Amino acid sequence: MTSPLRPQLDLTRLPRHVAIIMDGNGRWAQRRGYNRIRGHQEGAESVRAVVRVARDLGLSYLTLYAFSEENWQRPQIEVQSLMHLLSRYLKKELAELRAQNIAFRAIGALSLLPQKVQREINAASAATAEGAVMTLTVALSYGSRSEIVRAAQELAEQVRQGVLAAQEITHELFAQQLYTKDMPDPDLLIRTSGEYRISNFLLWQLAYTELYFTETLWPDFREEEFLTALMDYQRRDRRFGLTQEQIEIKA
Ligand code: IPE
Ligand code: IPE
Ligand code: MG
Repeated sequence: MTSPLRPQLDLTRLPRHVAIIMDGNGRWAQRRGYNRIRGHQEGAESVRAVVRVARDLGLSYLTLYAFSEENWQRPQIEVQSLMHLLSRYLKKELAELRAQNIAFRAIGALSLLPQKVQREINAASAATAEGAVMTLTVALSYGSRSEIVRAAQELAEQVRQGVLAAQEITHELFAQQLYTKDMPDPDLLIRTSGEYRISNFLLWQLAYTELYFTETLWPDFREEEFLTALMDYQRRDRRFGLTQEQIEIKA
């Protein structure tokens, strides 16, 4: 079913890259008297819905924050369930991702994930590598500060070896060390569940991203809510530090 909101979107002014902090699964479940895991299951349905809409509209990049470095500290049973759900998602959706011509990839400290999940991620990435319509990136065991520190270590090592001079480190070179090196920065960041924070997600990459927060919990965030966020984005003026007049001259 396509939403009646679709015709209201200006298809010429869509964000190229949307990133989402998918939050509120636990509260969604608790409010209904279910356990938190049920909320994560329902959240997986929202992932399906949003991926489909993003792809149909023609977004080039969709990046989903699914599991943070800090989330490892949750109760073991919840962590295990999340890993299990991830496996299930990969198995169930692989054919669909291929059929839709979507490239799947994962970013984060992936070596910390269970071996089985790592194998499944590698298989899914390889099987969809040709996907040319949209890149779906899932951030797993992801922490932005760790990503930045790792980049600094990598560059420091190159300087130590004498292959790079410290002065040669530019924004571009730094960004090349990040997991997101082959993607444009997000144009729009969505966070669900009424929390107004970034929670260690893409700190470098969000420098000029438009931020959109909604009270809607992730399992309730489907096509309508996604289109509403995109319409809100289309009402923004992005100035990148310039004046509005300068922007108009450029356009
Ligand atoms: C988001 O929902 C999913 C993950 C962080 C893995 P939460 O599990 O954080 O749900 P709340 O925020 O506790 O409601
Ligand atoms: C952020 O949600 C991480 C993901 C959505 C994967 P959290 O629920 O972990 O964030 P906090 O604890 O509310 O900041
Ligand atoms: Mg949360």
